[in-house]
Amino acid sequence: MSRRAEILLALADGALHSGAALARQLGVSRAAVAKQLARLRALGLEIEAVPGRGYRLPVPCRPLAAEAILRALGAAAASRWRRRIMVLERVDSTNRYLLARPLREAPRVCLAEAQTAGRGRRGRGWAATPYHNVLFSMSWRLEAGAAYASGLSLAAALAVARALEDIGVRGVGLKWPNDVLWQERKLAGVLVEVQGEAGGPAHVVIGVGINGYIGPAEAARIDQPWVDLYHITGTIPDRNRLVARLIVHLEAVLAGFAAGEGFAPFRAEWESRHLYTGRPVRLVQDGTSIEGIVEGVDEYGALRLRSLAAATAGSDVRRFFSGELSLRPA
Ligand code: BTN
Repeated sequence: MSRRAEILLALADGALHSGAALARQLGVSRAAVAKQLARLRALGLEIEAVPGRGYRLPVPCRPLAAEAILRALGAAAASRWRRRIMVLERVDSTNRYLLARPLREAPRVCLAEAQTAGRGRRGRGWAATPYHNVLFSMSWRLEAGAAYASGLSLAAALAVARALEDIGVRGVGLKWPNDVLWQERKLAGVLVEVQGEAGGPAHVVIGVGINGYIGPAEAARIDQPWVDLYHITGTIPDRNRLVARLIVHLEAVLAGFAAGEGFAPFRAEWESRHLYTGRPVRLVQDGTSIEGIVEGVDEYGALRLRSLAAATAGSDVRRFFSGELSLRPA
């Protein structure tokens, strides 16, 4: 664990700690403590300084740490993931970072405390307050090629929902294609990016952003209804444990896809968690929209929409692949 992460861990209780006490605890000089605190602030962490008394975190947090994630994974999974989990303090995008690594290095997990150019679906960005959120990517080699990744982003969203439930979050639902919602507000998003030559293996990177705590600066940049775990549970989540559960569920999903099973085994559970089944919705793309009633999804993850158009009312069910589409309540 880095010196900075050690300081963060010492502050994780949210109590006041004097510079002298921190220096003693870590076995370094007060100047070294001050330098690391300044660096943490520069990286985007809010640290309150109370003159003459010390420092505290107004919103406490524990640092992400590969060792803590491995401990929470349990022995068998930990042996597969040892030396494959990297935690970065700051990166442009964890998805981009893994996509730029050679395919032979997969599988890997990359986590960051902060992203400077987080990528969202449909060319949007992803805003997250540094040190308080889950910014996660997992790379995988899909031997059968990109064509076999159809429906993977839906199955990945299901894995996120399962992981959140494992840490005690209730009432998590899904919105086609791959949003994770709580009371119809966005709690997490998935961005799957695939690279590869036709006929060859595909390099798949599954990016997951989970809102742990979103501060005012980032909240102002989010242009859709959102929620964070701090708001839902009233506490700061143990991100290392959440990440361990995410690895377990995503690994299961990816193993199924690697075995050629695709989305079909996940379809029933996905549909049971979809918040919009039977509801009127609008599918929007580039300013045009189509209205209909959601019937469900097919075995490839395509949305099945019953048309509302007068000429075809009651009969026509069309299928839509996710691509650049966005689903909204009608
Ligand atoms: C969405 O728009 O709903 C998908 C958001 C995905 C964000 C995550 S954060 C970690 C990973 N790295 C990125 O740049 N994006 C994904």
